[in-house]
Amino acid sequence: MRFKVPRGTQDLLPTETWKWQCVEEIVRDVCDVYRYKEIRTPIFEQTELFQRTVGDTTDIVQKEMYTFTDRGNRSLTLRPEGTAPVVRSFVENKMFGYPDQPVKLYYTGPMFRYERQQAGRYRQFVQFGVEAIGSNDPAIDAEVIALAMDVYKRAGLSKLKLVINSLGDTECRNAHKTALIEHFEPSIDEFCSDCKTRLEKNPLRILDCKVDSEHPLIASAPSLAHYLNEESTAYFEAVQNYLGDAGIDYEVDANLVRGLDYYNHTAFEIMSTSDGFGAITTLCGGGRYNGLAEEIGGPSAPGIGFAMSIERLLLAMEAEGVSFEEEPSLDVYVIALGDDAKRVGAKLLHTLRTNGIRADMDYTNRKMKAQMKSADRLKANYVAIIGDEEVADDVVMLRSMRDREQEKISTNEVVQKILEKGKED
Ligand code: HAM
Repeated sequence: MRFKVPRGTQDLLPTETWKWQCVEEIVRDVCDVYRYKEIRTPIFEQTELFQRTVGDTTDIVQKEMYTFTDRGNRSLTLRPEGTAPVVRSFVENKMFGYPDQPVKLYYTGPMFRYERQQAGRYRQFVQFGVEAIGSNDPAIDAEVIALAMDVYKRAGLSKLKLVINSLGDTECRNAHKTALIEHFEPSIDEFCSDCKTRLEKNPLRILDCKVDSEHPLIASAPSLAHYLNEESTAYFEAVQNYLGDAGIDYEVDANLVRGLDYYNHTAFEIMSTSDGFGAITTLCGGGRYNGLAEEIGGPSAPGIGFAMSIERLLLAMEAEGVSFEEEPSLDVYVIALGDDAKRVGAKLLHTLRTNGIRADMDYTNRKMKAQMKSADRLKANYVAIIGDEEVADDVVMLRSMRDREQEKISTNEVVQKILEKGKED
């Protein structure tokens, strides 16, 4: 029997993991600059956490969760997203009591959704996300958006579009909900069975139904923008002012609703506008979720955040032709010829490494020529050649691969020499 990676997942081989490490470093640097601290929560949570927060009429909860019962008969779910777990942790660990609010957190880790696999859409994907919990200031909304844009900028992307909207507060949403029910009810038989159940429970979800997206009533549905009350409008304007002051371009799209239930007020997405990008152009999504902490039994702690998948970020970099930094090359390749030389070589290799020098050697007893080829392929800066003669004299032949010059030096001076040369470079 042949085994394959499960559908919707992928192996990341060393050439790819290097790119991931580059991107993860950017993410860490940007979060450090904005003073967001890393949080790590478990890969699985109680199923009910997602049902209550993401919402039980959403596609994620209805169709996409990896839910299982453990041996203790508990229903657990591989996390489909990071916001609910982070807010759960915020409440459980009483972070609302921290003297400095909002608490600013970030995470990177795998998320799981049973979705149809296509370019940019996987069943296991890695999200980088941030959550700022404990403030209802429009300035923090702009900060979170700026952070996302900075990550993309640092990654070398320029073909981006930021789209924002306001989903208003509970009052606006209820007025909008009534209008949506009136709009869809007479023709609800033309919609899928999920939309029929959504009508009463959560008609907003009809707007992002994947099955009925082409139905003309979707395009003509009443826009939330008409139902925003004074307070929500003022909040939205303030966010836009802060974005404007930071020089961040955006478009307002009254149809942006987001696919998770916990949102209110600010919602945003960042798309790639690069020609080479596939059908799925959304790179990042986020928004405000006042009330989420209370929903799971905590005190009032308004929050905002976003998440982006590293996979889509890398696809966007590829589409824009961004080149990656070169991987650090090998400092020294040790070539030992013969059994005695091998022992001296292995000892030298160990000394080099314990001094922080990147070094390697051959373990298949190949001829000198083949080993030199390896040194070339590995882009070694130096080779340290040890044969019988060198063993007898307690020296090694140190050859620079750059100018091909070589000199015999005493074995215990090699480390010193390499460190000095490294400084000169
Ligand atoms: P979301 O819009 O469901 O929001 O996902 C955010 C991002 O995760 C997407 O824009 C995309 O980059 C990535 N993503 C989602 N599904 C997949 C997939 N199947 N394959 C690859 N990438 C995917 C959330 O998850 C919210 N928790 C975001 C948030 C944080 N809102 C507030 N704080």
